[in-house]
Amino acid sequence: MSTPRVWITGTGGLLGSQLLQTAPPFASEWQPVGLLREELDLTDFANVAARFRADRPDAVIHCAAIAHPPVCQRDPAAARLMNVEATRCLAELSAEIPFYFFSTDLVFDGQRGNYVETDAPNPLSIYAETKVAAEQIVLANPRHTVLRLSLNFGRSPTGNRAFNEILRLDLAAGKTFSVFTDEYRCPTAARITARATWELLQQRATGLFHLCGADRLSRWQIANLLLPYWPGLPGRILPDTVKSYQGPPRPPDSSMNCAKVQRLLSFRLPGLAEALAAHPGEVA
Ligand SMILES: NC(=O)c1ccc[n+]([C@@H]2O[C@H](COP(=O)([O-])OP(=O)(O)OC[C@H]3O[C@@H](n4cnc5c(N)ncnc54)[C@H](OP(=O)(O)O)[C@@H]3O)[C@@H](O)[C@H]2O)c1
Repeated sequence: MSTPRVWITGTGGLLGSQLLQTAPPFASEWQPVGLLREELDLTDFANVAARFRADRPDAVIHCAAIAHPPVCQRDPAAARLMNVEATRCLAELSAEIPFYFFSTDLVFDGQRGNYVETDAPNPLSIYAETKVAAEQIVLANPRHTVLRLSLNFGRSPTGNRAFNEILRLDLAAGKTFSVFTDEYRCPTAARITARATWELLQQRATGLFHLCGADRLSRWQIANLLLPYWPGLPGRILPDTVKSYQGPPRPPDSSMNCAKVQRLLSFRLPGLAEALAAHPGEVA
């Protein structure tokens, strides 16, 4: 029998590249096929269908997205085309096979925090709206899976995608900027998310899961856990409150409860400090 093939979209980005890099050791029985935007634009639906029928993958992990909320806010039509319609196209092509889609903790309005999978989303941004719409499309197929993520740290191929990369670039450029002490997330390592995703695929886990770090931390706490890894950078961070933010509304506490997914994993999902200590090379 030939090795089953799994399409991984968005391998030019943070999570797709981590999934590609971690297939061995975490999914040695799968042959990963990484897809870059340069070779296949996922909004070219005719081409996507032709390539899918030629490749006949046995599973799809869909990482490609317009994943930066301000970009979605500036161009809602492009955000919907990529995040909703390209997801619909892939999910339809994958009707008979496992399909893994990544959503976000930002689907919640952040009024309460510690969200579980049965809590109702209430998106505040275009990015979050596109994710809620795509989740509904994906979850209409009982064979398919949605993994809601929080912030992921790591190294992306372009060096400027992960939140740690953006923070480090700003500090290296000597910028001084505000960091919120009252906006909460559950960050983890993209490497840990990749390992968990491979384990879920292995089990053919379907439905909706919150996959994130075990600790609820403010952006200020997150930044202060990262700073010791970058001694000597000229920039500075200053504490600030999200109440002073002038842009579109932001969920103040989109922390998620990861107990449901934890029950399926062979390893314990750590908090950020432990994840950083285990993967220091991913932020250096
Ligand atoms: N990273 C996080 O902290 C985080 C948190 C919550 C949810 N998520 C979700 O997790 C998924 C992966 O995120 P990520 O951090 O890996 O994002 P990322 O680093 O921005 O990567 C996204 C990838 O999608 C590709 N892409 C965009 N439009 C495309 C198109 N039309 N055709 C083909 N490829 C296209 C991008 O190509 P280019 O390289 O050419 O731009 C990029 O390689 C996304 O669904 C995101 O919303 C991520």
